[in-house]
Amino acid sequence: MAESGLHTEQLTLRPWREGDKVPFAAMNADPVVMEFFPSVLTRADSDGLVDRFEQERVARGFCPWAVELRESGTFIGFIGLHGAPDSVPFAPAIEVGWRLARPFWGRGFATEGAQGALRFGFYALGLDEIVSFTSVVNLRSRRVMERLGMARRPEDDFEHPFVTEGHVLRPHVLYRLSAADWRLR
Ligand SMILES: CC(C)(COP(=O)(O)OP(=O)(O)OC[C@H]1O[C@@H](n2cnc3c(N)ncnc32)[C@H](O)[C@@H]1OP(=O)(O)O)[C@@H](O)C(=O)NCCC(=O)NCCS
Repeated sequence: MAESGLHTEQLTLRPWREGDKVPFAAMNADPVVMEFFPSVLTRADSDGLVDRFEQERVARGFCPWAVELRESGTFIGFIGLHGAPDSVPFAPAIEVGWRLARPFWGRGFATEGAQGALRFGFYALGLDEIVSFTSVVNLRSRRVMERLGMARRPEDDFEHPFVTEGHVLRPHVLYRLSAADWRLR
């Protein structure tokens, strides 16, 4: 992806900048945004995530990109592609994922940005399949996956290895989308 980013109708998905760290940390400290994660993030953990995303972008050519509104340049969160951890049962895989600050929910931005990320993954990277996964109980995120045309097979459901056994967030659903199905849409 060019430094100028990947453009959709209303969004720009682009490399991270130092100036993103403050609004990103505020978003990661919001308990509503982080409802389906084991905890909110400290400023240091949030900054560390930005650094890891940038390392992934430099190494692999993609990452969960910083997202801004094209019209105003306002930072709204991240959307992008990420290598799934080696310890999940469907590894190796590339996932599409998102996290937006609350004022930007309910406006279709996650779906629009994810469509741009999928296009990049299938056309520019030539991937055969892109997956997405979340806690069974994260219905809002699952609706994004369904809007994207991704399909869940119950036999793919799994327990997330990073979440403590018995925790409500441990059971996960996996959604898949093949390049062939993407092109048919
Ligand atoms: C998951 C998350 C990104 C979803 O945000 P979202 O706003 O519900 O999803 P979208 O951007 O696709 O928007 C869809 C909503 O916008 C509405 N909408 C408004 N205008 C729209 C448009 N032009 N196009 C599509 N949807 C539109 C839809 O009706 C839908 O609202 P509804 O669910 O109340 O019916 C957001 O809740 C979030 O950041 N959550 C915290 C982090 C998280 O859980 N990440 C995923 C971890 S796996």
